[in-house]
Amino acid sequence: MEFRGKTALVTGGGIRLGRAIVGALAQKGVNVAIHYNSSKDAAREVKQDALNCCVDAEIFQFDLSDFARVDQLVQDVFERMGPIDILINNAGNYKRGTGLKTTQEAVEASFNVNLFSPWWLIKAFAAQLPSDRQGKIVNICDAGIFRTATDHFAYRLTKKALCEMTRMFALELAPNITVNAVAPGIMMPLAGFEHLDMDAVAEKRRIPLDRIGSPEIIAENVMHILSQDFMTGSIIKIDGGENIV
Ligand SMILES: NC(=O)c1ccc[n+]([C@@H]2O[C@H](COP(=O)([O-])OP(=O)(O)OC[C@H]3O[C@@H](n4cnc5c(N)ncnc54)[C@H](OP(=O)(O)O)[C@@H]3O)[C@@H](O)[C@H]2O)c1
Repeated sequence: MEFRGKTALVTGGGIRLGRAIVGALAQKGVNVAIHYNSSKDAAREVKQDALNCCVDAEIFQFDLSDFARVDQLVQDVFERMGPIDILINNAGNYKRGTGLKTTQEAVEASFNVNLFSPWWLIKAFAAQLPSDRQGKIVNICDAGIFRTATDHFAYRLTKKALCEMTRMFALELAPNITVNAVAPGIMMPLAGFEHLDMDAVAEKRRIPLDRIGSPEIIAENVMHILSQDFMTGSIIKIDGGENIV
């Protein structure tokens, strides 16, 4: 795909991984629709950084818990910026708790934001894409789901399902739209845990490459996937080798 002049919608584009993805897209000349929920100030900064790259950039507030109304978000982007060529499903929540300790509310909140909103966004994205244009979707999953564990019960289920949804939509939307996923390992501390010694975390988790990743590494890999035209239904683990030990 030729990047310059295309338009991308990035959910959760105001902070952390989403912010890095928006930055990488803008640097390649992609116009960016920056979705946010609560991080308005951060989204404004990301918009200004993108404008400095001489691309079009707009911010869009939307609470993805209300996933069945997400068509409105896509319509708003379409009206302000034209057809969307690239969709990055990055927004997500990370609810704690094992199966026995997770509440119905936490399960609903996880599924609404992490799984159902990407589903409805993909439907709306496919519907607005003109038939003569190529579309690209990248879903942000999690490398942790390739092992079975009891923590973050609802989150793990949503990300496992998002991986399967990636492959299912890759089949259904071919050949016009490719659908792939990135599955990050630990890229940065959780919000509020920035004080932790990340070298010690990498050692404790026995990450073979001996360090955690960074948002920029995920952004680079997203850009790589977007540059590929013969790749669909792939899920790329970016985890410093954590899954092989
Ligand atoms: N960070 C990592 O090391 C890591 C590792 C594995 C997977 N991932 C995945 O990578 C993605 C980004 O993670 P992150 O750590 O950068 O972000 P994060 O700290 O988990 O922030 C969540 C993002 O999702 C958005 N969001 C949450 N609830 C929302 C809602 N109800 N409606 C709309 N947007 C909502 C937030 O928007 P606002 O701030 O605007 O509210 C924010 O941009 C997630 O899907 C996560 O599961 C991250």
